[in-house]
Amino acid sequence: MANVVVVGAQWGDEGKGKIVDWLSERADVIARFQGGHNAGHTLVIDGQVYKLNALPSGVVRGGKLSVIGNGVVLDPWHLVGEIAKIREQGVEISAETLMIAENTPLILPFHGELDRAREEAAATGTKIGTTGRGIGPCYEDKVGRRAIRVADLADRATLEARVDRALTHHNALRAGLGLEPVDRDGLIAQLEEIAPEILQYAAPVWKVLTEKRKAGKRILFEGAQGSLLDIDFGTYPFVTSSNVIAGQAATGVGIGPGSVDYVLGIVKAYTTRVGAGPFPTELEDETGERLGTRGREFGTVTGRKRRCGWFDAALVRQTCAISGINGIALTKLDVLDGFETLKICVGYELDGERLDYLPTASDQQARCTPIYEEMPGWSESTEGARSWADLPANAIKYVRHIEELIDCPVALLSTSPERDDTILVTDPFAD
Ligand code: IMP
Repeated sequence: MANVVVVGAQWGDEGKGKIVDWLSERADVIARFQGGHNAGHTLVIDGQVYKLNALPSGVVRGGKLSVIGNGVVLDPWHLVGEIAKIREQGVEISAETLMIAENTPLILPFHGELDRAREEAAATGTKIGTTGRGIGPCYEDKVGRRAIRVADLADRATLEARVDRALTHHNALRAGLGLEPVDRDGLIAQLEEIAPEILQYAAPVWKVLTEKRKAGKRILFEGAQGSLLDIDFGTYPFVTSSNVIAGQAATGVGIGPGSVDYVLGIVKAYTTRVGAGPFPTELEDETGERLGTRGREFGTVTGRKRRCGWFDAALVRQTCAISGINGIALTKLDVLDGFETLKICVGYELDGERLDYLPTASDQQARCTPIYEEMPGWSESTEGARSWADLPANAIKYVRHIEELIDCPVALLSTSPERDDTILVTDPFAD
């Protein structure tokens, strides 16, 4: 039985929600392994729209186990609110269907405050454009060994000691930013109140997943954000604070790297990015506007307009290699319908030399200019296509050329937000 990791192969918002939902049907367990409620996954099932941030996409399908792994940072109040909303839509959630790793760090209100205060204080050009949800400050606390984790909620004395340790650090930081010290007793009271709501789902996830694997159950590892936002391999410092790439699936739940059988990269047929940072193929013109309007490119978490540009094959080839992507799901091909000519970036020119990858140094990234290949577009609609025969010849050529340039085959092709509007080439779960 195969276990599949799904990762975004660009800057996030590649359309993972639909693909993960499509694969969820074939999986027994769906596990989130990084990120937090900075993610926004929209699922459309039988015309009903579900919006998820922290919950794994599998929760909307009955009979599956959804797992929040230790690689995630969890805002307990947000999670409880999200569970309440999804229950109102008729979805059942219980300790049988949802598990949270006991070693998951908690996002507390002061993390969000710090995130926002830092962004406000940052000079123009240095703002990251975070979602303001405390993701970065919480990961900092995890690595700084002062995080409060799910298991700490079970014991008052431990909780107090952990809060005191965290506040020694945070109150000093807050003073520097002109923020009031945190109300320690108020925070402990808030945590004690939310504790039973979270603890009912707490479990040794590594153990449960090992047992599931031995029993031949299929696990789907659901990534959030995209590889170019990875803390190590992304466009640093304009990145998120977790490892987003496929290697994180193992450490983010506590399962061996050999447990992963297939890595599926989600790739949009053009490129978008929310927040600040380098974006070599960005189009700040009518064409970019057209992509944004046709693709409805607005952030699901912050509502911000996404920056849009041509497909960057050099970057996707890079992220396919870093995550060991076996096949891609190409999404939103229909957004390109009606363009007379399409451009694909195949490399960069840097100081008179040609590069086939984006260099790491920021100053070099800024000086890189894309080298484009042009392809004829198509006037026919590809929306809702369910077989290759439904696609115009030039659309097929575009897809085939992308495969060649990124050195990775297309496993799935998505042609609308509806789950059945998908062309299947390779089933990632096939034995
Ligand atoms: P943070 O993850 O809130 O710290 O934000 C860091 C960067 O990652 C910002 O540029 C955000 O816009 C971006 N980001 C975080 N989550 C997502 C996502 O789910 N999709 C796209 N961009 C994201």
